[in-house]
Amino acid sequence: MKKIILGFTLLGLFACTNKPVRETMDVDKALNYCAKQVNRTLNELKGDSGIDYTMMPRNIMDSLTTWHLRKAAKEEWTAGFWPGILWYDYEYTKDPRIKQEAEKFTQSLGFLSRIPAFDHDLGFLVFCSYGNGYRLTGNPEYKQVILATADTLATLFNPTVGTILSWPREVEPRNWPHNTIMDNMINLEMLFWAAKNGGDKKLYDIAVAHADKTMENHFRPDYTSYHVAVYDTITGDLIKGVTHQGFADDTMWARGQAWAIYGYMVCYRETKDPKYLDFLQKITDVYLKDLPEDYIPYWDFNAPNIPNEPRDASAAAVVASALLEASAFFNGTKGDEYWNAAVRMLKSLSSPAYQSESKPAFLLHSTGHWPNGSEIDASIIYADYYYIEALLKLSGFE
Ligand code: GLY
Repeated sequence: MKKIILGFTLLGLFACTNKPVRETMDVDKALNYCAKQVNRTLNELKGDSGIDYTMMPRNIMDSLTTWHLRKAAKEEWTAGFWPGILWYDYEYTKDPRIKQEAEKFTQSLGFLSRIPAFDHDLGFLVFCSYGNGYRLTGNPEYKQVILATADTLATLFNPTVGTILSWPREVEPRNWPHNTIMDNMINLEMLFWAAKNGGDKKLYDIAVAHADKTMENHFRPDYTSYHVAVYDTITGDLIKGVTHQGFADDTMWARGQAWAIYGYMVCYRETKDPKYLDFLQKITDVYLKDLPEDYIPYWDFNAPNIPNEPRDASAAAVVASALLEASAFFNGTKGDEYWNAAVRMLKSLSSPAYQSESKPAFLLHSTGHWPNGSEIDASIIYADYYYIEALLKLSGFE
């Protein structure tokens, strides 16, 4: 008997030390909540003359309860998230009415494939909307829009520097001759996809060059990131790393690091180059080690008044989505660690502290642009997008 007990104890210890249990949550409850909120938003968007499909939900400020809408225009970088949310909601509910709404909002962004590049956000705009639409419907028109937009985005690539110019509009006013922002890593996914799906193979090389140069110049020795890297267009060398939306040039802006984690997760998924996996681990571990107890970061990890600083639920949603996928890339306990961290983020986001029952958004407590004083402690559409994306990934893994 003693032997059996000892055997079970050892087995238990082995399980504890070598194979941590993978945590889970009630993902259907969270996805049904999202479906309810999507319907609330659609009802709100129905004016007396029906829905204006060119107007996209952007944010709900802390003191308000209805969406602030923005026109789907080339300057509006968030316009692809609402159509993307509708596609994800359709994927879960299979409701043909939601599909129709997704199609109509998506259509409003087609013009982006027919105009010159305005900035790097084309990936956010077109891959979240048309990308998900194509994945779920196989509509050949959607594919053409994505391929054409990928070619447009590639026109911003500077071969001397080796990265995409993120903000042409900031070149002169700020004297940032070639600027690349960390957010730009997200737009590489559309280039990888296009290269694999009938587009120019050079798009793959551009994405890899951008990721490599960013890896080399956009991070400090401790693997925390700058928001903006400014490059010399003659030599291609880094001039400086600075911030735009973080607290200071040398602090870790939470969403910037979140974009980096998501971006390098995609780079490894698309290339299987182990250098990206190694790097992904380094930039993830520095993010995870200083999270508060509920796994939702303050808007900047080095903001001066922590714990009295706003959180950024959007960064948590982006990282949760990235880490659910990344957990499959790592052997041993690292994969479990990333999985469990992602589930803890999603559990917090799915708790009353972050859910938005009084408003039609999914989530509260995101921070858009603290230095500008805009979208602080607000509901923001991209937080909702990455939240529902992560929930769907979690439901698919079960
Ligand atoms: N610039 C995009 C963001 O706020 O993350």
